[in-house]
Amino acid sequence: MVFCGAGLSAESGIPTFRAASDHALWSRYDPEELASIEGFTRNPDRVRGWYAWRRGLVAEAMPNDAHHALAGWHEALLVTQNVDDLQERAGAPDERILHLHGSIVHDRCHDGCGWVGPVESEAGGGRSECPRCGGVARPAVVWFGETLPQAVWTRACRACSETDLLLVVGTSGVVQPAAMLVEMAADGGAYVVNVNPEPTPLDALADASIHAPAAGVLPALLPD
Ligand code: OAD
Repeated sequence: MVFCGAGLSAESGIPTFRAASDHALWSRYDPEELASIEGFTRNPDRVRGWYAWRRGLVAEAMPNDAHHALAGWHEALLVTQNVDDLQERAGAPDERILHLHGSIVHDRCHDGCGWVGPVESEAGGGRSECPRCGGVARPAVVWFGETLPQAVWTRACRACSETDLLLVVGTSGVVQPAAMLVEMAADGGAYVVNVNPEPTPLDALADASIHAPAAGVLPALLPD
């Protein structure tokens, strides 16, 4: 099993959320304003505009060697906190990928009719109105304070508890409940390998930590 975060896509040019540098998203932008229901309700256009910019970054980015190495590890289930589609574009089939925090390349109905659809507009701004029920549409990502998609979370928990090997890639390990998966795997007896150029709290749970960028490490670590 693999559990990954924003560091996996860093070498594709997509900024991470937390880092010492000013480049990280949460150093430059306020998650309360841009990644919460309250922020969206206060100013939906500001939130949609920010997602349009991020969608542009994703559209221009290409999968890196770490995405390709993970796509080629056919036995592994890939549980990701990332909302981009670079893992899919590297060739991993949908059924092997669990997106815990949703998908930035989709919109969904905010009013609960269940509609989800790909973002179609060229500018990536997305829809403001749900095409099914006429309610409010929004980016299909999980915001702070929202629960994770239940079926995805249940499957990820079960897989983590049962796996004998967990490869953790590019996550700070500070966002719950996602980071709890590493503890579940360790408690279930899995051998845990953590790949991250920086030390993180997950090192304490890992049997091995490799402090290096993912795109350099993963092709050497995984089967062709
Ligand atoms: P973070 O931005 O918190 O952490 C990214 C991690 O990637 C850091 O620990 C970096 O050291 C590491 N990193 C940077 N470059 C790397 C590289 N080339 N190879 C490997 N690792 C590298 O991102 P996440 O842990 O994914 O949630 O953050 C978790 C959640 O917080 C995100 O899904 C998002 C955010 O708020 C939502 O939007 C709900």
